Amino acid sequence: MSIRLDKYLCGCGAGTRTEVKKLIKNKRVSVNGAIATKADAKISEDDAVRLDGALLEYSRFTYIMLNKPDGYISATRDDNKKTVMELLEDKYRNIGLFPAGRLDKDTRGLVILTNDGDFAHRTLSPSKHVAKTYFALVSGDVDEKTAEIFNKGVTFKGFTYKSAKLIIEGKQNGLTAVRITVYEGRYHQIKLMFEAVGCRVEYLKRLSFGEIELDGGLEEGDYRLLNEKELEYIGRIKE
Ligand code: URA
Repeated sequence: MSIRLDKYLCGCGAGTRTEVKKLIKNKRVSVNGAIATKADAKISEDDAVRLDGALLEYSRFTYIMLNKPDGYISATRDDNKKTVMELLEDKYRNIGLFPAGRLDKDTRGLVILTNDGDFAHRTLSPSKHVAKTYFALVSGDVDEKTAEIFNKGVTFKGFTYKSAKLIIEGKQNGLTAVRITVYEGRYHQIKLMFEAVGCRVEYLKRLSFGEIELDGGLEEGDYRLLNEKELEYIGRIKE
């Protein structure tokens, strides 16, 4: 693999394309011990690239865990609505990130942003059955019968959703608090499944995506890069 030095630096999270060009101009970047002077110099994975003397680690793809707040759409751009991309620092805006899977505008919680199309394709493919767990507050009668119906696979408007696991956690302000795990990613899936049994989802938050759990330390709107364990899971998904 050979890649332009400026692109390589962006891939290491060193800054935006403009910022990394400035770093090179200010002689802060070295390649194999020699100060780099050209942003378009070709770099390979074996080269030792340092910023202010610290060795950089390049990864071809970036994976970000975002705690999505209410009011943002899971898209890269939109003329009228706020997108999840607007929550990111500039250095993550122009490296081809997109949300791997969509949450509704009013759904909160875990969104993975990546520029790894292969990962997104594999996890979103219905045949992969990646488990996604949500916390929801639901109005209407939710009980063990609902759990049984969901377990069998609820049919609504001519479509049968695959078996889902519903755990009732208790009551909160007159609403039922539940944890629900689904193994496919259909449009408005959780809301429609509850609508099918005469209930309404009033609050929805995604807690996990496969083995990746929303980091409890992330406030709404905050994000972080995936850690080693999470990246190892992504590697397994891609196998
Ligand atoms: N199901 C929904 O209804 N909405 C979401 O955002 C995610 C799953």
